[in-house]
Amino acid sequence: MGSLTGKVAVVTGGGSGIGLSTARRLAAAGVSVAVVDLDGESAERAASALGGLALQADVGRSDEWPGIVDAVTGRFGGVDLAHLNAGVTTGETDITAVTDEIYRRATGVNVDGVFFGVRTLVPAMEARGGGSIVATASLAGLIGFSPDPIYCLTKHAVVGLVRSLEPQLAAKGITVNAVCPSIVDTPLIADMREVLEASGFPLIDVESVSEAVVDLLSGEGNGQAMVIQAGREAIPFRFARPPGPRAGGTVGQMPPKEFAAHDQV
Ligand SMILES: NC(=O)c1ccc[n+]([C@@H]2O[C@H](COP(=O)([O-])OP(=O)(O)OC[C@H]3O[C@@H](n4cnc5c(N)ncnc54)[C@H](O)[C@@H]3O)[C@@H](O)[C@H]2O)c1
Repeated sequence: MGSLTGKVAVVTGGGSGIGLSTARRLAAAGVSVAVVDLDGESAERAASALGGLALQADVGRSDEWPGIVDAVTGRFGGVDLAHLNAGVTTGETDITAVTDEIYRRATGVNVDGVFFGVRTLVPAMEARGGGSIVATASLAGLIGFSPDPIYCLTKHAVVGLVRSLEPQLAAKGITVNAVCPSIVDTPLIADMREVLEASGFPLIDVESVSEAVVDLLSGEGNGQAMVIQAGREAIPFRFARPPGPRAGGTVGQMPPKEFAAHDQV
């Protein structure tokens, strides 16, 4: 996409942590930023410091997304960029103790918030001739993460969605990528910070994550899951190819393109 100056961005979870850092970095690059957050006060604080637009909304509610896009388009004339970043952990390791409420909250913010965002933003970006989307997944979207299995489930979902969307969004001039950081020093991990530090676990500086996000928003990479670890450059994850069939038939790992419509035939 190249230069970001004059573009318009939506950043969810932009009131704190990684989203706030992305919002600041985008604003410094000359982007008009809409800060979307469930916490209206933090959205307001962030947006007013950046000359942006604050929107209090729950990204996990599909009925809030048309209003988000309308408000951003009304204020800035359209949308080019999105960092779909709002997310929560469950705080529950024991799968038998995960209540419906805990499960729905995590899947609502982390999965629904990304899907509803993409579904609503793609037509708006298409109307501008293209755009760029980055979702915040996690290293827990690439590995098993036993401390929080449901969080891990949601982040795998985000990575799978991004990888699957790449061809259809590329055809519309829209890139879609994910960032997959290990543990980042943000308010999300505040209650574990001391334990992590005492153990010597290297926390990632929030600026390294927002730098990778903005690089993806301005770059040509597509369908990538960028691993972010403390003290090293962001690096695209290389997925191993699963074993193919050992039976006769067409070669390759994808079914024929007509398969996509198999429910309708
Ligand atoms: N901090 C880490 O170690 C880490 C590591 C990997 C991935 N992540 C992911 O990064 C993203 C940002 O996390 P962070 O560490 O900056 O946390 P954070 O708690 O500092 O910020 C998250 C923001 O999302 C907002 N939010 C929560 N639910 C929302 C909803 N339903 N609608 C709108 N906004 C909502 C919160 O109010 C908060 O401002 C999350 O998706 C998280 O899973 C974090």
